[in-house]
This record gives sequence, C-alpha cells and structure tokens, in this order.
Amino acid sequence: MRTKTLIATAAGILLSAAASAQVNHHASWLKDAVVYQIYPSSFQDSDGNGIGDIPGIISRLDYIKSIGVSAIWMNPVFVSGFTDGGYDVIDFYKIDPRFGTNSDLVELVNQAHARGMKVILDLVAGHSSDQCEWFKQSKEADPNLRYSDYYIWPSFKPEIKNEQNLAGKTDYAQLMNSMNNIVNKFVASDAPRGPYYVKNFFDTQPALNFGFANPDPEHPWEQAVDAPGPMAMRRELKNIISFWMDKGVDGFRVDMAASLVKNDFDKSATIKLWKEDLSKWFKETYPEGLLIAEWFNPEQSIEAGFDVDFFAHDGKYNFSTLFFNTDRQGKSQPCWFELEGRGELKTWYDLYSYQYNAVKGKGYASLPTSNHDFNRPAAAARTTLEQEKVYMTFFLTMPGVPFIYYGDEIGLKQQFGLPSVEGSMMRSGTRIPMLWDSSDNAGFSSAPIEKLYIPQDPDPNRNTVEKSENDPNSLLNYTRTLIQLRKDNPVIGADADWRLVNGLETPYPMVYERTLGSEKCIIVLNPTAKKVTTQIEFQGKTPEIIGGSYTKASYKSNAKKGIDTITLSPVSAIIYKY
Ligand code: GLC
Repeated sequence: MRTKTLIATAAGILLSAAASAQVNHHASWLKDAVVYQIYPSSFQDSDGNGIGDIPGIISRLDYIKSIGVSAIWMNPVFVSGFTDGGYDVIDFYKIDPRFGTNSDLVELVNQAHARGMKVILDLVAGHSSDQCEWFKQSKEADPNLRYSDYYIWPSFKPEIKNEQNLAGKTDYAQLMNSMNNIVNKFVASDAPRGPYYVKNFFDTQPALNFGFANPDPEHPWEQAVDAPGPMAMRRELKNIISFWMDKGVDGFRVDMAASLVKNDFDKSATIKLWKEDLSKWFKETYPEGLLIAEWFNPEQSIEAGFDVDFFAHDGKYNFSTLFFNTDRQGKSQPCWFELEGRGELKTWYDLYSYQYNAVKGKGYASLPTSNHDFNRPAAAARTTLEQEKVYMTFFLTMPGVPFIYYGDEIGLKQQFGLPSVEGSMMRSGTRIPMLWDSSDNAGFSSAPIEKLYIPQDPDPNRNTVEKSENDPNSLLNYTRTLIQLRKDNPVIGADADWRLVNGLETPYPMVYERTLGSEKCIIVLNPTAKKVTTQIEFQGKTPEIIGGSYTKASYKSNAKKGIDTITLSPVSAIIYKY
C-alpha cells in the first residue's frame, strides 16, 4: 500500500514536471528572435486607397529582412468593424478586404518564410465585434442556440461590491480590468436576450464568455469556466488558432490575454485556463509556434504558458519613468531618457527587476521600442539622431526578445494633436504612416494626401528609409549593426544574465552588466547633455569596445583602489566586452 502511494506520488511528480516542462517549452527560434511589429493600415498601401494592406507589406519584405529581424507581428487583419483599429473582429477566419484576401495572407507567410522570417498574427481572444455573427445570434431570445453562450448576458445590474483587497499584490494584479468588478463593464442592451451584455473595451467589443472565477449563484449569467458555453468558446478559439497555424502562420500575440475569465481578481483562473488547456494544447500541437501575451505582467503570463510578455509603457506597470512620465493629471514629469538628466531609475528598476527575476529561465519580459497604443520613443525633446541611438542601444542590449515597432528604426517621430481615427483616440500619433522615400506621401500611398489613413509627419526634412539607406551614420544602419552584434554575441542576447551596476542614488549614467558563462559585457548609457563619469568595480581586464555611439569615451583601471573609471561624452552609449 505504502509502496503504491510512493509510486503514485513519484509518478505524479514526474507527470507534473512533464506538464510544466511542456508549457515552458519554447520554439527553437525564439531565443535569437527580434520581432518587427507592423500596424498594417499604416505600413504600405498597394491599391491607392490611402490605407496599408498585405500586398503592400509583401512588397516591403526585403527591406524588413534587411533590418535583421526574424519575425513580423501584424496587428489584427481580420474582417472588422474598425471601431478599434481592427480589435473589433467580425470574422476571425477571414482577412478584411481592405487588407487583401486569405490567399494574400498565405502569400505573405510563404514569402516571409522564403526569406527566413516568421509571421505572427494578433489573436483577439477576449472579445469580438458587436457585428460578429456570433453576437447577432447570441442576442436572440432563445438562449440555446449555437452561439448563445459565447457572450455574457446579465439579467440585472448588481450593486458594485468592494473590490478585493490583495494585500501587497495590488500593483501587479490591478492590471487591465482585473480589479474592476465586472459590473463596470455592463452595457445596456435592447436585445431580446437580456438588458445587459458585458464588454471588454469599447461598447462595440462584447466580451467572449470564458466563464467566471467564482460564479455567484444569485447571478445566473456567471457561468463556471468549465460550463458548456465557456468550453465551446475555448474550442472555437483553438479552431481559430489552428485555422491560421495550419496555413503556416508561426504564432500569435494574444490581445488582452489576462481578460478571459471574469471576476478573476488574482488571475489564478485565467492562468489555469491558459496553462492547463490553451497554452498546453498549443505547445503540444505546434511546438515551433510562439505565444506572446499582452498581459503586461510576465510573472503571471509566463506561468500561464506564454513565451513572451511585454514590459511596456502602460500605466504604472511600465517604463514610463524612462520615456513618458506623465502623471494622472497629464502633467509631464522628468523621464530618464532626457537631456536634462533629471530622471530617476528606481521606479523602473524595481518593477523591471521584479519581472525579470520572476520569469528568468522560463520566458521573457520584453521591452518593446513602442507600439500602436503607446508613444514612440522619438518624441518631443528626444528626436536627435544621437538621442535615438542611445535608446536603441538600450532596447537592443537588454534581455528578452526585442520588439521594434515599424518606423522606430528610422526614428519615425511621434505626432501630437492628431484626430482620432477608428477609435484610436490618443493613439493616432503612434499609428502614423511609414515614411519610405521622397515621392508623394513618402511612398506610403498614391492616394491624395487627404485620403491617408492618418496624416504623416509634415516636416519637410522628415527622415525616410531612402535617406537612411544612403547614410552610413543613420539610425537604421546603427540598428542593423546592433541587431547583428546581438546575434554575434549571445552575451547581450535574450538569455544572458542582466544586472544593474550603478546605484539607484546615482541614476546617470545607466550601467548594466550582461554575463553568459565566462563572457561579460558592460553597457553604459548617457542620455544627458553633460559628460558623465562613473566608477565600477575593478574588472581586471581592458575591455574591447564592440559597439555604441559616442564622441569620446575613456576607460581607466586602478587595480590598487579596485576600481575602473569610465568617462563618456554627452548623449552617448557604449558597449564594452571583457
Ligand atoms: C489591446 C490592444 C489595443 C486595443 C485593446 C482592446 O490593448 O493593444 O489596441 O484597443 O486591446 O482590444
């Protein structure tokens, strides 16, 4: 009996080890990956309607390849109502005609693969458009139709209960809509089915029904995660994933991945759903596929089986203190990447090092250059070539998988004060059309200028890909050099250890160390207009400078005092290898 129990326990341990190994399995290409994010409406228009499309992207594949990236991630390209830039999907199985056809997507995949690049799609897992056929059927009075339970139909509005108090954990668990009692997402409806439905983001984005963490018996619409409706929803999601993966796609960035299970305050039910079902199934079925989370909490998302999550400039979980330090009143505060040198590193460091350590060896907390929701780094007072090279050095020498948002490689500048387009609201200024050359509309589109999806940077001296190609000193060429350097030196790549070397009380310059086996690099960043000097521990070796952007740098060792002293010119970055 005892032996049996022991064997059973041992088998259990082995089984659970195998299960978690499965979830933490990564595609073989992940560790060297650099991802290029494309906002499809703004990249390249091929048919002259002022909006980018898939054939346009295909025509630019050689350029994308030339940057050195290994994968492309496109924001949603599916049939959409475009009340939220494509994140309100009407048909998950069909490319929107404005972007092309399903065959164009397959052509893009084939052509990217022929160039050794992967293609990642955006999976809007948590909601659909209110124009989706599923939702239309779900609105009908009969609650037992095929799609009836794909959505949540509260029959009354309960009082808002006090939000849960997660002592000590609020910072991370508050993310997205997790702490919001779902009542805040009720939308009044005149559908025969019921007086309310639950939304995720805009009213046009009804939440899909993956169940509730702790269904309240007094709220009959709160189904359990394993109730028939939520289970059917999961099968549908797997179908969508398989539909595209079987056509050759290489993975997904999952939109609002943390939002699936409702009233899941600590996210444990959502983590479980991914870990024990969706991610597990995905990894088993597509071992070379990639799952990127938009969760903004790597500690949770990597546990849930994702390969990568973002540590992005969103809310207070972010690196806004590095790039866009705006307080709740919208007032700009100093940020670390600025000429004046008034920034601090502690806020970012505490959050980043927490996440970095939480997922080390299991997955990646990635620092994207920017994205379709947040400002580009080339903005306001941070738009000189030297400044751009300093932050690009940062993005491409940190751990994890780098994500370059289209145009950031040429210093495409954040625009301010643009009108909202298709629900972009404040986000128009980061979704601006790419600047290719000196032809009309910078080669983005042959449409009349007023027809462009979003106005382009009007500066007559605006930088373009063409100009950047012709200038050996350009940000584009610097970015290429850095990506190549990263490939040649795994010590500055995804997996090498990272440690901040300078003290938080002396935030300038930022000095960090990357180590892998016996190899070591030290990276020094000075975004300020002043020359900086810093002292680090005596390294016992004269390092080689393997990269950077600076006018002057000096490195002096003092074995007796046990210190090395580095002096670096204003607005500079340098990479030392020991
Ligand atoms: C994600 C997307 C954002 C979208 C939202 C709702 O945060 O990045 O663009 O508006 O989800 O789908």
